[in-house]
Amino acid sequence: MKTITCIGAGYVGGPTMAVIAKHCPEHRVVVADIDEGRIRAWQSDHLPIYEPGLSEVVSSVRERNLFFTTDITEAIQAGDIIFVSVNTPTKTFGRGAGRAADLQYWEKTARQILRDSPSDKIVVEKSTLPVRTAAAMGRILHSRDSGHRFEVLSNPEFLAEGTAIRDLENPDRVLIGGRETPAGQAAVQALVDIYAHWVPRERILTANVWSSELSKLVANAFLAQRISSINSISALCEATGADVQEVARAIGFDSRIGPKFLQASVGFGGSCFKKDILNLVYLCETYGLNEVARYWEQVVAMNEYQGDRFVDKIVKTMFNTIAGKRIAVFGFAFKANTGDTRESPAIRICRQLHAERASVVVTDPQALEYAARDLEDLGDSVQYEPDPYRAAEGAHAILVATEWDTYRELDYDRIYAAMEKPAFIFDGRNTLDHDALRGLGFQVYAIGKPTAQAEE
Ligand SMILES: NC(=O)c1ccc[n+]([C@@H]2O[C@H](COP(=O)([O-])OP(=O)(O)OC[C@H]3O[C@@H](n4cnc5c(N)ncnc54)[C@H](O)[C@@H]3O)[C@@H](O)[C@H]2O)c1
Repeated sequence: MKTITCIGAGYVGGPTMAVIAKHCPEHRVVVADIDEGRIRAWQSDHLPIYEPGLSEVVSSVRERNLFFTTDITEAIQAGDIIFVSVNTPTKTFGRGAGRAADLQYWEKTARQILRDSPSDKIVVEKSTLPVRTAAAMGRILHSRDSGHRFEVLSNPEFLAEGTAIRDLENPDRVLIGGRETPAGQAAVQALVDIYAHWVPRERILTANVWSSELSKLVANAFLAQRISSINSISALCEATGADVQEVARAIGFDSRIGPKFLQASVGFGGSCFKKDILNLVYLCETYGLNEVARYWEQVVAMNEYQGDRFVDKIVKTMFNTIAGKRIAVFGFAFKANTGDTRESPAIRICRQLHAERASVVVTDPQALEYAARDLEDLGDSVQYEPDPYRAAEGAHAILVATEWDTYRELDYDRIYAAMEKPAFIFDGRNTLDHDALRGLGFQVYAIGKPTAQAEE
Protein backbone atom coordinates (compact mmCIF):
# COMPACT_ATOMS: atom_id res chain seq x y z
CA MET A 1 0.00 0.00 0.00
CA LYS A 2 1.17 3.49 -0.87
CA THR A 3 -0.06 6.80 0.43
CA ILE A 4 -0.77 9.29 -2.31
CA THR A 5 -0.99 12.86 -1.08
CA CYS A 6 -2.32 15.85 -2.97
CA ILE A 7 -1.73 19.42 -1.84
CA GLY A 8 -4.56 21.59 -3.17
CA ALA A 9 -8.20 20.47 -3.06
CA GLY A 10 -9.53 22.53 -5.95
CA TYR A 11 -11.10 21.81 -9.32
CA VAL A 12 -8.15 19.61 -10.21
CA GLY A 13 -6.96 18.11 -6.91
CA GLY A 14 -10.40 16.97 -5.67
CA PRO A 15 -11.75 15.19 -8.77
CA THR A 16 -8.35 13.78 -9.80
CA MET A 17 -7.69 12.20 -6.43
CA ALA A 18 -11.25 10.87 -6.15
CA VAL A 19 -10.78 8.98 -9.42
CA ILE A 20 -7.34 7.68 -8.38
CA ALA A 21 -8.83 6.48 -5.07
CA LYS A 22 -11.64 4.75 -6.93
CA HIS A 23 -9.31 2.82 -9.21
CA CYS A 24 -6.54 2.12 -6.70
CA PRO A 25 -8.38 0.68 -3.69
CA GLU A 26 -5.14 -0.70 -2.24
CA HIS A 27 -3.68 2.83 -1.91
CA ARG A 28 -4.62 5.54 0.56
CA VAL A 29 -5.28 8.96 -0.98
CA VAL A 30 -5.09 12.09 1.17
CA VAL A 31 -6.07 15.52 -0.15
CA ALA A 32 -4.88 18.49 1.91
CA ASP A 33 -5.66 22.19 1.64
CA ILE A 34 -5.15 25.32 3.73
CA ASP A 35 -8.73 26.37 3.03
CA GLU A 36 -10.74 24.94 5.94
CA GLY A 37 -14.10 25.78 4.39
CA ARG A 38 -13.19 23.92 1.23
CA ILE A 39 -12.04 20.85 3.14
CA ARG A 40 -15.22 20.86 5.25
CA ALA A 41 -17.24 21.01 2.03
CA TRP A 42 -15.33 18.05 0.57
CA GLN A 43 -16.21 16.15 3.73
CA SER A 44 -19.91 17.03 3.45
CA ASP A 45 -22.79 16.30 1.07
CA HIS A 46 -22.31 19.72 -0.52
CA LEU A 47 -19.04 19.42 -2.41
CA PRO A 48 -17.23 22.70 -3.06
CA ILE A 49 -17.41 22.27 -6.83
CA TYR A 50 -20.07 21.08 -9.21
CA GLU A 51 -19.12 18.42 -11.76
CA PRO A 52 -21.46 15.82 -13.23
CA GLY A 53 -20.73 12.43 -11.61
CA LEU A 54 -18.33 13.84 -9.01
CA SER A 55 -20.47 13.37 -5.91
CA GLU A 56 -21.10 9.69 -6.80
CA VAL A 57 -17.36 8.99 -7.10
CA VAL A 58 -16.52 10.91 -3.93
CA SER A 59 -19.20 9.25 -1.82
CA SER A 60 -18.13 5.80 -3.01
CA VAL A 61 -14.54 6.22 -1.78
CA ARG A 62 -14.55 8.90 0.93
CA GLU A 63 -13.47 7.49 4.28
CA ARG A 64 -12.67 4.20 2.49
CA ASN A 65 -9.37 5.25 0.90
CA LEU A 66 -9.98 8.94 0.17
CA PHE A 67 -9.50 11.46 2.95
CA PHE A 68 -9.62 15.26 3.11
CA THR A 69 -7.62 17.20 5.67
CA THR A 70 -6.21 20.59 6.60
CA ASP A 71 -3.23 18.94 8.27
CA ILE A 72 -0.75 19.49 5.47
CA THR A 73 2.28 18.46 7.51
CA GLU A 74 0.82 15.07 8.28
CA ALA A 75 -0.27 14.59 4.69
CA ILE A 76 3.27 15.34 3.49
CA GLN A 77 4.82 13.06 6.09
CA ALA A 78 2.59 10.17 5.06
CA GLY A 79 2.82 10.60 1.29
CA ASP A 80 5.01 8.36 -0.87
CA ILE A 81 3.90 10.30 -3.91
CA ILE A 82 2.97 13.95 -3.38
CA PHE A 83 0.92 15.68 -6.05
CA VAL A 84 1.00 19.46 -5.97
CA SER A 85 -2.18 20.94 -7.36
CA VAL A 86 -2.19 24.43 -5.89
CA ASN A 87 -3.35 27.43 -7.90
CA THR A 88 -0.91 29.19 -10.22
CA PRO A 89 -2.82 32.36 -11.21
CA THR A 90 -1.52 35.18 -13.34
CA LYS A 91 0.76 37.50 -11.41
CA THR A 92 -0.94 40.79 -10.51
CA PHE A 93 2.12 42.65 -9.26
CA GLY A 94 5.76 43.37 -10.02
CA ARG A 95 7.73 41.95 -12.92
CA GLY A 96 5.61 40.09 -15.45
CA ALA A 97 2.37 41.40 -13.88
CA GLY A 98 -0.65 40.45 -16.01
CA ARG A 99 1.29 37.73 -17.84
CA ALA A 100 3.68 35.60 -15.82
CA ALA A 101 2.48 32.84 -13.51
CA ASP A 102 2.35 33.71 -9.81
CA LEU A 103 4.40 30.90 -8.30
CA GLN A 104 4.21 31.90 -4.65
CA TYR A 105 1.75 29.13 -3.61
CA TRP A 106 3.78 26.62 -5.52
CA GLU A 107 7.07 27.66 -3.92
CA LYS A 108 5.56 27.71 -0.42
CA THR A 109 4.41 24.15 -0.95
CA ALA A 110 7.87 23.09 -2.15
CA ARG A 111 9.44 24.56 0.98
CA GLN A 112 6.88 22.87 3.18
CA ILE A 113 7.56 19.50 1.53
CA LEU A 114 11.27 19.97 2.25
CA ARG A 115 10.57 20.97 5.86
CA ASP A 116 8.10 18.19 6.67
CA SER A 117 9.44 15.20 4.74
CA PRO A 118 10.90 12.42 6.90
CA SER A 119 11.83 10.26 3.88
CA ASP A 120 12.43 10.21 0.10
CA LYS A 121 9.49 11.47 -1.93
CA ILE A 122 8.24 11.58 -5.49
CA VAL A 123 6.84 15.07 -6.03
CA VAL A 124 4.43 15.47 -8.94
CA GLU A 125 3.66 18.80 -10.57
CA LYS A 126 -0.06 18.65 -11.28
CA SER A 127 -0.51 22.42 -11.43
CA THR A 128 0.14 24.09 -14.77
CA LEU A 129 3.57 25.71 -14.61
CA PRO A 130 6.06 27.54 -16.79
CA VAL A 131 8.69 25.38 -18.47
CA ARG A 132 11.64 24.58 -16.22
CA THR A 133 9.72 24.99 -12.96
CA ALA A 134 10.68 21.42 -12.07
CA ALA A 135 14.30 22.56 -12.03
CA ALA A 136 13.44 25.31 -9.55
CA MET A 137 11.43 22.81 -7.51
CA GLY A 138 14.38 20.41 -7.48
CA ARG A 139 16.73 23.17 -6.33
CA ILE A 140 14.45 24.18 -3.47
CA LEU A 141 13.94 20.58 -2.39
CA HIS A 142 17.69 19.95 -2.38
CA SER A 143 18.64 23.37 -1.01
CA ARG A 144 19.73 21.89 2.29
CA ASP A 145 20.97 18.44 3.04
CA SER A 146 17.87 16.82 4.47
CA GLY A 147 19.34 13.39 3.75
CA HIS A 148 16.36 12.61 1.50
CA ARG A 149 16.01 12.46 -2.27
CA PHE A 150 13.14 14.18 -4.06
CA GLU A 151 12.34 13.18 -7.59
CA VAL A 152 10.24 15.80 -9.38
CA LEU A 153 7.85 14.68 -12.12
CA SER A 154 5.59 16.70 -14.37
CA ASN A 155 2.10 15.27 -14.83
CA PRO A 156 -0.08 18.08 -16.20
CA GLU A 157 -3.83 17.69 -15.98
CA PHE A 158 -5.84 17.86 -19.20
CA LEU A 159 -9.34 17.50 -17.73
CA ALA A 160 -11.95 19.99 -18.86
CA GLU A 161 -14.36 21.41 -16.30
CA GLY A 162 -17.90 20.23 -16.91
CA THR A 163 -16.63 16.84 -18.10
CA ALA A 164 -13.91 16.32 -15.48
CA ILE A 165 -15.02 12.88 -14.34
CA ARG A 166 -15.51 11.58 -17.87
CA ASP A 167 -12.10 12.98 -18.87
CA LEU A 168 -10.39 11.47 -15.84
CA GLU A 169 -12.05 8.08 -16.28
CA ASN A 170 -11.26 7.93 -19.97
CA PRO A 171 -8.44 10.35 -20.77
CA ASP A 172 -7.21 10.89 -24.34
CA ARG A 173 -3.76 10.61 -22.80
CA VAL A 174 -1.89 10.91 -19.53
CA LEU A 175 1.45 12.68 -19.79
CA ILE A 176 4.31 12.03 -17.38
CA GLY A 177 7.62 13.84 -17.63
CA GLY A 178 10.67 12.79 -15.65
CA ARG A 179 14.44 13.03 -15.65
CA GLU A 180 16.28 10.65 -17.95
CA THR A 181 18.29 9.20 -15.06
CA PRO A 182 17.66 5.78 -13.44
CA ALA A 183 16.07 7.50 -10.40
CA GLY A 184 13.96 9.72 -12.66
CA GLN A 185 12.79 6.77 -14.74
CA ALA A 186 11.96 4.72 -11.61
CA ALA A 187 9.78 7.58 -10.38
CA VAL A 188 8.08 7.81 -13.79
CA GLN A 189 7.38 4.08 -13.61
CA ALA A 190 5.83 4.42 -10.14
CA LEU A 191 3.38 6.98 -11.49
CA VAL A 192 2.72 4.99 -14.66
CA ASP A 193 1.78 2.07 -12.40
CA ILE A 194 -0.87 4.20 -10.67
CA TYR A 195 -2.55 5.32 -13.91
CA ALA A 196 -2.21 1.86 -15.48
CA HIS A 197 -4.91 0.70 -13.01
CA TRP A 198 -7.47 2.08 -15.46
CA VAL A 199 -5.78 3.91 -18.37
CA PRO A 200 -4.64 1.75 -21.32
CA ARG A 201 -0.84 1.67 -21.36
CA GLU A 202 -0.60 3.09 -24.89
CA ARG A 203 -2.36 6.25 -23.71
CA ILE A 204 0.18 6.90 -20.96
CA LEU A 205 2.86 9.00 -22.61
CA THR A 206 6.22 9.62 -21.06
CA ALA A 207 8.50 12.52 -21.97
CA ASN A 208 11.30 14.62 -20.63
CA VAL A 209 10.23 17.09 -17.94
CA TRP A 210 10.47 20.22 -20.09
CA SER A 211 8.42 18.73 -22.93
CA SER A 212 5.77 17.69 -20.43
CA GLU A 213 5.57 21.11 -18.78
CA LEU A 214 5.46 22.88 -22.14
CA SER A 215 2.87 20.51 -23.64
CA LYS A 216 0.24 21.64 -21.16
CA LEU A 217 0.66 25.31 -22.09
CA VAL A 218 0.70 24.44 -25.78
CA ALA A 219 -2.42 22.24 -25.56
CA ASN A 220 -4.39 25.09 -23.99
CA ALA A 221 -2.97 27.63 -26.43
CA PHE A 222 -4.04 25.47 -29.42
CA LEU A 223 -7.53 24.90 -28.01
CA ALA A 224 -8.07 28.59 -27.31
CA GLN A 225 -6.63 29.46 -30.71
CA ARG A 226 -9.31 27.37 -32.42
CA ILE A 227 -12.04 29.26 -30.57
CA SER A 228 -10.51 32.62 -31.45
CA SER A 229 -10.09 31.51 -35.06
CA ILE A 230 -13.74 30.58 -35.49
CA ASN A 231 -14.83 33.69 -33.58
CA SER A 232 -12.78 35.88 -35.90
CA ILE A 233 -14.60 34.25 -38.82
CA SER A 234 -17.96 34.84 -37.10
CA ALA A 235 -17.36 38.58 -37.41
CA LEU A 236 -16.73 38.16 -41.12
CA CYS A 237 -19.85 36.01 -41.45
CA GLU A 238 -21.98 38.72 -39.88
CA ALA A 239 -20.53 41.26 -42.29
CA THR A 240 -21.06 39.13 -45.40
CA GLY A 241 -24.18 37.06 -44.81
CA ALA A 242 -22.34 33.75 -44.43
CA ASP A 243 -23.36 31.48 -41.54
CA VAL A 244 -20.54 30.53 -39.17
CA GLN A 245 -22.15 27.20 -38.29
CA GLU A 246 -22.26 26.24 -41.95
CA VAL A 247 -18.65 27.32 -42.39
CA ALA A 248 -17.57 25.40 -39.27
CA ARG A 249 -19.36 22.30 -40.52
CA ALA A 250 -17.80 22.57 -43.96
CA ILE A 251 -14.25 22.97 -42.69
CA GLY A 252 -14.75 20.48 -39.83
CA PHE A 253 -15.41 17.70 -42.32
CA ASP A 254 -11.80 18.03 -43.42
CA SER A 255 -10.14 15.28 -41.41
CA ARG A 256 -7.02 17.42 -41.02
CA ILE A 257 -9.09 20.10 -39.27
CA GLY A 258 -11.77 18.02 -37.52
CA PRO A 259 -15.11 19.19 -36.12
CA LYS A 260 -14.35 19.86 -32.45
CA PHE A 261 -13.89 23.27 -30.81
CA LEU A 262 -15.31 25.13 -33.81
CA GLN A 263 -18.35 26.55 -32.03
CA ALA A 264 -18.50 30.34 -32.34
CA SER A 265 -19.52 32.10 -29.14
CA VAL A 266 -19.06 35.13 -26.93
CA GLY A 267 -15.60 33.77 -26.24
CA PHE A 268 -13.70 31.37 -24.06
CA GLY A 269 -13.39 31.65 -20.31
CA GLY A 270 -12.24 29.52 -17.42
CA SER A 271 -9.29 29.85 -15.16
CA CYS A 272 -6.81 28.34 -17.61
CA PHE A 273 -6.90 29.41 -21.25
CA LYS A 274 -6.09 33.09 -20.83
CA LYS A 275 -3.68 32.50 -17.97
CA ASP A 276 -1.78 29.76 -19.78
CA ILE A 277 -1.51 31.67 -23.06
CA LEU A 278 -0.23 34.75 -21.24
CA ASN A 279 2.22 32.54 -19.45
CA LEU A 280 3.37 31.19 -22.84
CA VAL A 281 3.65 34.75 -24.15
CA TYR A 282 5.75 35.73 -21.16
CA LEU A 283 8.00 32.72 -21.63
CA CYS A 284 8.54 33.60 -25.29
CA GLU A 285 9.42 37.16 -24.36
CA THR A 286 11.83 35.89 -21.73
CA TYR A 287 13.64 33.93 -24.44
CA GLY A 288 13.59 36.93 -26.82
CA LEU A 289 11.04 35.31 -29.16
CA ASN A 290 8.95 38.44 -29.62
CA GLU A 291 7.21 37.45 -32.88
CA VAL A 292 6.11 34.18 -31.31
CA ALA A 293 4.84 36.09 -28.27
CA ARG A 294 2.82 38.51 -30.45
CA TYR A 295 1.33 35.59 -32.39
CA TRP A 296 -0.12 33.93 -29.29
CA GLU A 297 -1.09 37.18 -27.61
CA GLN A 298 -3.51 37.81 -30.46
CA VAL A 299 -5.57 34.77 -29.40
CA VAL A 300 -6.44 36.58 -26.15
CA ALA A 301 -7.00 39.92 -27.89
CA MET A 302 -9.46 38.28 -30.31
CA ASN A 303 -11.35 36.75 -27.39
CA GLU A 304 -11.86 40.13 -25.74
CA TYR A 305 -12.83 41.70 -29.05
CA GLN A 306 -15.54 39.06 -29.49
CA GLY A 307 -17.22 39.92 -26.16
CA ASP A 308 -17.00 43.65 -26.87
CA ARG A 309 -18.40 43.13 -30.36
CA PHE A 310 -21.35 41.25 -28.89
CA VAL A 311 -22.22 44.09 -26.52
CA ASP A 312 -21.82 46.62 -29.37
CA LYS A 313 -24.33 44.61 -31.31
CA ILE A 314 -26.81 44.52 -28.43
CA VAL A 315 -26.66 48.27 -27.92
CA LYS A 316 -26.93 49.03 -31.62
CA THR A 317 -29.82 46.63 -32.15
CA MET A 318 -31.77 47.94 -29.18
CA PHE A 319 -32.00 51.36 -30.82
CA ASN A 320 -28.63 52.58 -29.49
CA THR A 321 -29.70 52.73 -25.87
CA ILE A 322 -30.12 50.12 -23.19
CA ALA A 323 -30.24 52.58 -20.31
CA GLY A 324 -32.99 51.57 -17.89
CA LYS A 325 -33.85 48.45 -19.92
CA ARG A 326 -34.08 45.13 -18.14
CA ILE A 327 -31.72 42.57 -19.66
CA ALA A 328 -31.90 38.96 -18.50
CA VAL A 329 -28.53 37.26 -18.73
CA PHE A 330 -29.09 33.51 -19.14
CA GLY A 331 -26.01 31.79 -17.77
CA PHE A 332 -22.99 33.13 -15.94
CA ALA A 333 -20.72 30.07 -15.67
CA PHE A 334 -17.90 30.14 -18.21
CA LYS A 335 -19.44 27.07 -19.85
CA ALA A 336 -22.27 24.62 -19.25
CA ASN A 337 -22.17 21.93 -16.55
CA THR A 338 -19.91 23.82 -14.18
CA GLY A 339 -20.49 26.38 -11.46
CA ASP A 340 -17.10 27.95 -12.18
CA THR A 341 -17.19 31.59 -13.29
CA ARG A 342 -13.48 32.33 -13.38
CA GLU A 343 -12.71 34.51 -16.45
CA SER A 344 -16.25 33.90 -17.68
CA PRO A 345 -17.09 36.15 -20.66
CA ALA A 346 -20.33 36.93 -18.79
CA ILE A 347 -18.35 39.01 -16.28
CA ARG A 348 -17.05 41.41 -18.90
CA ILE A 349 -20.40 41.51 -20.71
CA CYS A 350 -22.42 42.27 -17.55
CA ARG A 351 -19.99 45.01 -16.61
CA GLN A 352 -20.40 46.62 -20.01
CA LEU A 353 -24.20 46.35 -19.85
CA HIS A 354 -24.07 47.95 -16.42
CA ALA A 355 -21.84 50.74 -17.75
CA GLU A 356 -24.56 51.41 -20.34
CA ARG A 357 -26.96 51.68 -17.38
CA ALA A 358 -28.99 48.64 -18.27
CA SER A 359 -30.82 46.90 -15.46
CA VAL A 360 -29.10 43.52 -15.43
CA VAL A 361 -30.69 40.33 -14.04
CA VAL A 362 -28.45 37.27 -13.95
CA THR A 363 -29.76 33.73 -13.83
CA ASP A 364 -27.75 30.49 -13.77
CA PRO A 365 -28.50 26.98 -12.47
CA GLN A 366 -25.16 26.59 -10.66
CA ALA A 367 -23.16 29.80 -10.60
CA LEU A 368 -25.32 32.52 -9.01
CA GLU A 369 -23.32 32.67 -5.80
CA TYR A 370 -20.07 33.19 -7.67
CA ALA A 371 -21.77 35.64 -10.04
CA ALA A 372 -22.82 37.80 -7.09
CA ARG A 373 -19.25 37.73 -5.81
CA ASP A 374 -17.75 38.56 -9.22
CA LEU A 375 -20.03 41.58 -9.62
CA GLU A 376 -20.12 42.54 -5.95
CA ASP A 377 -18.79 46.04 -6.60
CA LEU A 378 -21.79 46.80 -8.83
CA GLY A 379 -24.02 46.56 -5.75
CA ASP A 380 -27.79 46.32 -5.91
CA SER A 381 -28.00 47.43 -9.49
CA VAL A 382 -27.51 43.83 -10.61
CA GLN A 383 -30.10 41.26 -9.57
CA TYR A 384 -29.64 37.51 -9.22
CA GLU A 385 -32.60 35.26 -9.94
CA PRO A 386 -32.44 31.46 -9.98
CA ASP A 387 -35.64 31.12 -12.04
CA PRO A 388 -35.12 32.05 -15.72
CA TYR A 389 -38.84 32.72 -16.19
CA ARG A 390 -38.81 35.32 -13.45
CA ALA A 391 -35.54 36.78 -14.74
CA ALA A 392 -37.18 37.32 -18.13
CA GLU A 393 -40.35 38.90 -16.73
CA GLY A 394 -40.59 42.46 -17.99
CA ALA A 395 -37.22 42.18 -19.75
CA HIS A 396 -36.48 43.92 -23.04
CA ALA A 397 -33.89 41.33 -23.96
CA ILE A 398 -32.49 37.92 -23.08
CA LEU A 399 -28.80 37.38 -23.55
CA VAL A 400 -27.60 33.78 -23.56
CA ALA A 401 -24.08 33.70 -22.16
CA THR A 402 -23.79 30.01 -21.19
CA GLU A 403 -24.97 27.03 -23.25
CA TRP A 404 -26.89 25.23 -20.47
CA ASP A 405 -29.20 22.53 -21.92
CA THR A 406 -32.00 23.77 -19.71
CA TYR A 407 -32.23 27.03 -21.70
CA ARG A 408 -33.14 25.06 -24.82
CA GLU A 409 -36.01 23.41 -23.00
CA LEU A 410 -37.78 26.50 -21.65
CA ASP A 411 -41.31 27.51 -22.64
CA TYR A 412 -40.45 30.50 -24.81
CA ASP A 413 -44.11 31.18 -25.58
CA ARG A 414 -44.60 31.91 -21.89
CA ILE A 415 -41.37 33.93 -21.74
CA TYR A 416 -42.35 35.98 -24.79
CA ALA A 417 -45.72 36.84 -23.28
CA ALA A 418 -44.05 38.24 -20.14
CA MET A 419 -41.42 40.38 -21.92
CA GLU A 420 -41.46 43.94 -23.22
CA LYS A 421 -41.87 44.20 -27.00
CA PRO A 422 -40.03 44.02 -29.27
CA ALA A 423 -38.61 41.07 -27.34
CA PHE A 424 -34.96 40.52 -28.23
CA ILE A 425 -32.86 37.40 -27.81
CA PHE A 426 -29.10 37.64 -28.27
CA ASP A 427 -27.80 34.10 -28.42
CA GLY A 428 -24.13 34.34 -27.51
CA ARG A 429 -23.71 30.57 -27.74
CA ASN A 430 -25.83 29.73 -30.79
CA THR A 431 -27.62 27.22 -28.65
CA LEU A 432 -31.33 28.01 -29.16
CA ASP A 433 -33.66 27.17 -32.05
CA HIS A 434 -33.66 30.56 -33.76
CA ASP A 435 -36.30 29.83 -36.39
CA ALA A 436 -38.74 28.56 -33.77
CA LEU A 437 -38.12 31.66 -31.63
CA ARG A 438 -38.69 33.94 -34.61
CA GLY A 439 -41.94 32.06 -35.18
CA LEU A 440 -43.02 33.05 -31.68
CA GLY A 441 -42.31 36.72 -32.39
CA PHE A 442 -38.81 37.16 -30.94
CA GLN A 443 -36.19 39.32 -32.64
CA VAL A 444 -33.22 36.93 -32.62
CA TYR A 445 -29.55 37.81 -33.03
CA ALA A 446 -26.92 35.12 -32.99
CA ILE A 447 -23.17 34.96 -33.36
CA GLY A 448 -21.92 34.78 -36.94
CA LYS A 449 -25.38 34.34 -38.41
CA PRO A 450 -27.19 36.32 -41.08
CA THR A 451 -29.84 38.58 -39.59
CA ALA A 452 -33.40 37.82 -40.74
CA GLN A 453 -34.66 40.46 -43.20
CA ALA A 454 -37.53 41.64 -41.03
CA GLU A 455 -35.15 42.47 -38.21
CA GLU A 456 -32.73 44.61 -40.17
N1 LIG B 1 -9.41 24.11 -13.35
C1 LIG B 1 -9.07 23.41 -14.40
O1 LIG B 1 -9.89 23.05 -15.24
C2 LIG B 1 -7.63 22.99 -14.59
C3 LIG B 1 -7.34 22.02 -15.56
C4 LIG B 1 -6.01 21.63 -15.72
C5 LIG B 1 -5.02 22.20 -14.94
N2 LIG B 1 -5.31 23.15 -14.03
C6 LIG B 1 -4.22 23.70 -13.22
O2 LIG B 1 -4.25 23.05 -11.96
C7 LIG B 1 -3.85 23.96 -10.91
C8 LIG B 1 -4.93 24.05 -9.86
O3 LIG B 1 -6.10 24.55 -10.50
P1 LIG B 1 -7.51 24.53 -9.77
O4 LIG B 1 -8.51 25.00 -10.77
O5 LIG B 1 -7.70 23.22 -9.09
O6 LIG B 1 -7.27 25.67 -8.67
P2 LIG B 1 -8.12 25.98 -7.36
O7 LIG B 1 -7.88 27.40 -7.04
O8 LIG B 1 -9.52 25.47 -7.53
O9 LIG B 1 -7.44 25.06 -6.23
C9 LIG B 1 -6.18 25.27 -5.71
C10 LIG B 1 -6.23 24.95 -4.23
O10 LIG B 1 -4.91 25.03 -3.71
C11 LIG B 1 -4.98 25.49 -2.37
N3 LIG B 1 -3.69 25.97 -1.92
C12 LIG B 1 -3.01 27.08 -2.30
N4 LIG B 1 -1.85 27.19 -1.63
C13 LIG B 1 -1.77 26.12 -0.81
C14 LIG B 1 -0.81 25.65 0.13
N5 LIG B 1 0.32 26.33 0.33
N6 LIG B 1 -1.08 24.53 0.82
C15 LIG B 1 -2.24 23.84 0.60
N7 LIG B 1 -3.18 24.22 -0.27
C16 LIG B 1 -2.95 25.34 -0.97
C17 LIG B 1 -6.04 26.55 -2.43
O11 LIG B 1 -6.59 26.81 -1.15
C18 LIG B 1 -7.06 25.94 -3.40
O12 LIG B 1 -8.10 25.24 -2.73
C19 LIG B 1 -3.54 25.28 -11.61
O13 LIG B 1 -2.17 25.33 -11.91
C20 LIG B 1 -4.33 25.17 -12.91
O14 LIG B 1 -3.74 25.94 -13.95
C21 LIG B 1 -6.60 23.55 -13.83
